[in-house]
Amino acid sequence: MSTIIDLQTKIRKIQTQLATDIDNLASQQELTISYLGKKGLFNQVAQMLRELPNEEKKTAGQLLNQLKEELSAKIATVTISESDNQSWIDLSAPGIQPKVGHMHPISQAMRDITHIFEQIGFTRVRYPEVDWDWYVFESLNMPPDHPARDEWETFFVDAPDTTDKNVAYDASEPRGRHPSLIGGKMVMTTHTSNGQVREMERLNSTPPIRMINIGRCYRRQQDATHTQMFHQFEGLVVDEGINIQHLKGTLDYFAEQFYGPGTKSRIRPFHFQFTEPSFEVDFSCHICGGTGLIDGNRCKFCKSGWHEVGGAGMVHPNVLKAGGIDPEIYTGFAFGWGVERTYTLKEGLNIDDIRLFYSGDLRFLEQF
Ligand code: FA5
Repeated sequence: MSTIIDLQTKIRKIQTQLATDIDNLASQQELTISYLGKKGLFNQVAQMLRELPNEEKKTAGQLLNQLKEELSAKIATVTISESDNQSWIDLSAPGIQPKVGHMHPISQAMRDITHIFEQIGFTRVRYPEVDWDWYVFESLNMPPDHPARDEWETFFVDAPDTTDKNVAYDASEPRGRHPSLIGGKMVMTTHTSNGQVREMERLNSTPPIRMINIGRCYRRQQDATHTQMFHQFEGLVVDEGINIQHLKGTLDYFAEQFYGPGTKSRIRPFHFQFTEPSFEVDFSCHICGGTGLIDGNRCKFCKSGWHEVGGAGMVHPNVLKAGGIDPEIYTGFAFGWGVERTYTLKEGLNIDDIRLFYSGDLRFLEQF
């Protein structure tokens, strides 16, 4: 025959054991089964009720009710966790290493290009990616309806044209900061040349100017060598006495710094509205050393010994005028090349489709 003292002793044991089990990180599911389950500790102790003298049964019943409430409340506070689905946790198992990223290859190229030009006194600037038609075309000697604009495959922005239509266009006029033209059409910048007149304005039309403008450009083009969004870097130098030799010296300097010693540059006559004379710029091929031949056979990488990277030229007097600079006193050169194109010509890279840069494919990007 049990007594209520025996019952109280058993209840205390159960309370102590529950505290120990919770400390030992038993899961909520396990505790529920072993304490409140059909064959659990609560039911075991409740069996004692039958053996108690009748006069103790009422008090014993109250004690058991209190115990049940206490067990349920304490078990409910245990957090439901992974461990509810598994019987143990291996705290010594190695953790999951988070992936460590790195700069995108085109960002790396932009950082290198910036550094190379900063070494010779250029200042890196950035100008808007969505800009007034004035900076992208008109100030660059491309009046409205000029056929040269067609080459730029432009995305126009659907913004209201607030140009003062009463001001007649006059191609001979010095158009620096013409207030009636700012506020005209807006475009996604097709080239970083929009930075030319902006830089002249930033410096209050006061040379010397040595700008390197690197930014995103947009064109309606898409194939292995063209993307709708790409990057260009634009150099602009304006001062007294600047001539083509300064341009050629800068190109040679960049070629050696970016592609390695021995790389040569070449300029070929071309046409841009905003430079006169204008050139296309080539760098010698590092595979065949600029000869176009490997063991008597045509170099498959360049086919001619040279790779074209972009355009350059002497700043057109109308562009200087648009930036408020007197072309009788100052001259300048400018160049603009694609970052992606320039980068893919680096030795050891064999990228025949620049769209890969923007594919988001880690198998490609992790190689850089
Ligand atoms: C221009 O954009 C002129 N603004 C360059 C310039 C600046 C000339 C200053 C004179 C003075 P062009 O359209 O050729 O020129 O583009 C220059 C380079 O940008 C190209 O050679 C190519 O490397 C790159 N490029 C042009 N369009 C794309 C495109 N859709 N995708 C990737 N690269 C492009």
